[in-house]
Amino acid sequence: MANNYLTTESKKLATWYFTFAAIIFGAQLVFGLVAAFQYVMPGFLFEIVDFSVARMIHINALVVWMVFAMMGSVYWLLPDETGIETVGIGLGKLLFWVFAAAIVIVVLVYLLVQVGPADQTTIWFINEGREYLEAPRWADIGIVVVVLGFVYNLYATGMKGNRSGIVTVLMADMLAFAGIYLAGMGYTDNISIDQYWWWWVIHLWVEATWEVFVGSIAAYGLITMIGAHRKVVEMWLWIEVAMLFGSGILGIGHHYFWIGTPEYWWEIGALFSALEPLPLVAMFIHVLYDWGKQQGAQEAQGKEVSVIANKPAFTWFVLQALGNFLGAGVWGFFHTFPQVNLYTHGTQFTSAHGHLAFFGAYATILIGMFYIAVQGKHGIKVMHATKKSIWATSMIFGGVLGMTAALTMSGYVQVLVERAQMGASWSGYFDSQASVWFAQGMDWRLIMGIVTFLGFVILVTDLLSIGKATHHER
Ligand code: HEM
Ligand code: HEM
Ligand SMILES: [Fe+2]
Repeated sequence: MANNYLTTESKKLATWYFTFAAIIFGAQLVFGLVAAFQYVMPGFLFEIVDFSVARMIHINALVVWMVFAMMGSVYWLLPDETGIETVGIGLGKLLFWVFAAAIVIVVLVYLLVQVGPADQTTIWFINEGREYLEAPRWADIGIVVVVLGFVYNLYATGMKGNRSGIVTVLMADMLAFAGIYLAGMGYTDNISIDQYWWWWVIHLWVEATWEVFVGSIAAYGLITMIGAHRKVVEMWLWIEVAMLFGSGILGIGHHYFWIGTPEYWWEIGALFSALEPLPLVAMFIHVLYDWGKQQGAQEAQGKEVSVIANKPAFTWFVLQALGNFLGAGVWGFFHTFPQVNLYTHGTQFTSAHGHLAFFGAYATILIGMFYIAVQGKHGIKVMHATKKSIWATSMIFGGVLGMTAALTMSGYVQVLVERAQMGASWSGYFDSQASVWFAQGMDWRLIMGIVTFLGFVILVTDLLSIGKATHHER
């Protein structure tokens, strides 16, 4: 590297987290492709990397890379927001290596050992069998230690430096994020109770703490990239915090319809989860509104309309608002009433929602942070879009939209054939999946998955080649 413009150790550390996140993101996509290929050709890699293993790695890698990118984002913005160097950089570096090594070991065990008997040894050393959080117990505890260290650094820095609204929200949010993880660590042999607590982690992460986290990142990004007024952005952030926690906490009821919990969850889940899209709509409007207002004010003063300091990142930030709205707001709302969920529950429709929501709400903005970090690293004042960045963005976003459309179609076949026509019977389950319409959806998902993956490859080459053009305004 010819020149390194990173001004603080905190930002340097952030780039470590981002780099590892990008690698795991790549691994996530590779194993997603393996699983998607197995839908089309069931014998593919049979007894080498079975579907269950590929799927497990796919979705656990998803969680892991996002947590790494989350920590990276916090380390990146802390010095800007607090005005001081982050406290505990040494600890942050140590924890990075501990966390990364643990992940590598866990993945190797997933690949090489894969399964074990239903006993404590398996839980401690292979996996816990809780979808998305399958890390074995030793790694579970390790993750708690790592995250506590991270939260300590955040608090120590926030208390010492300037505590902006963004930092304050992050401090509260990251504590909640870490605390909720504990709910998924208990052990019980009652599957209803187990699922009940497991959903605390999954649902309250994605529909409360993660949403607040990306709200903070969006606020930071809008301020740094287009000079949005802090007062306006932070006011919206607080409103969103209130709304998200208000609807998200009881919205958990939409996962309690069919797991053996009392029936009052039908009403609670229906009502509160139906309210959940409201903050997402508010966020969407807020990005556009803030930006329009900013430009209008500048025009009125006769100034030139402001430049966007980082075009690729800004594009990803705007796509976040759109993706969150579509994936969580529209696709989520669609199946959130128990009357609808009875038909769609656990079909490919769920997967359509899962993909568009996770990608739209979180992957997008984290990719935006990758670009912000690369810009900072090379000291680029104004970063324009490149051919590569435009291709990468279009192929990744278009690919995931295409996968979502394909999965939605396959889901409809399951709803109509398996649930409506054949009454959710055992044979209905298989008949619906033998339907040619279902199979075509699976083909298209694979094709669109390949488009997504190629887009990712272009993204990586773009991020890596930006360094070579140092000094130049791109
Ligand atoms: C960005 C935010 C969100 C993310 C990342 C997300 C992700 C997911 C994922 C991955 C699942 C599947 C879980 C499994 O494997 O069983 C799921 C299920 C579900 N989500 Fe979301 N979700 C989000 C927001 C929402 C919102 C706002 C709503 C409602 C308005 C919603 C409604 C549902 C429902 C009803 C299910 C259960 C599906 C079923 O019964 O099969 N989600 N979500
Ligand atoms: C190369 C692109 C991708 C392919 C081919 C792919 C394929 C798959 C497959 C085959 C499954 C298992 C579905 C099942 O059990 O029926 C799956 C699950 C999942 N994938 Fe992907 N995926 C890709 C990208 C992504 C991305 C970018 C995200 C989010 C950022 C994501 C999030 C998920 C989630 C949350 C699930 C669990 C869904 C559920 O349980 O309902 N995937 N994916
Ligand atoms: Fe949920």
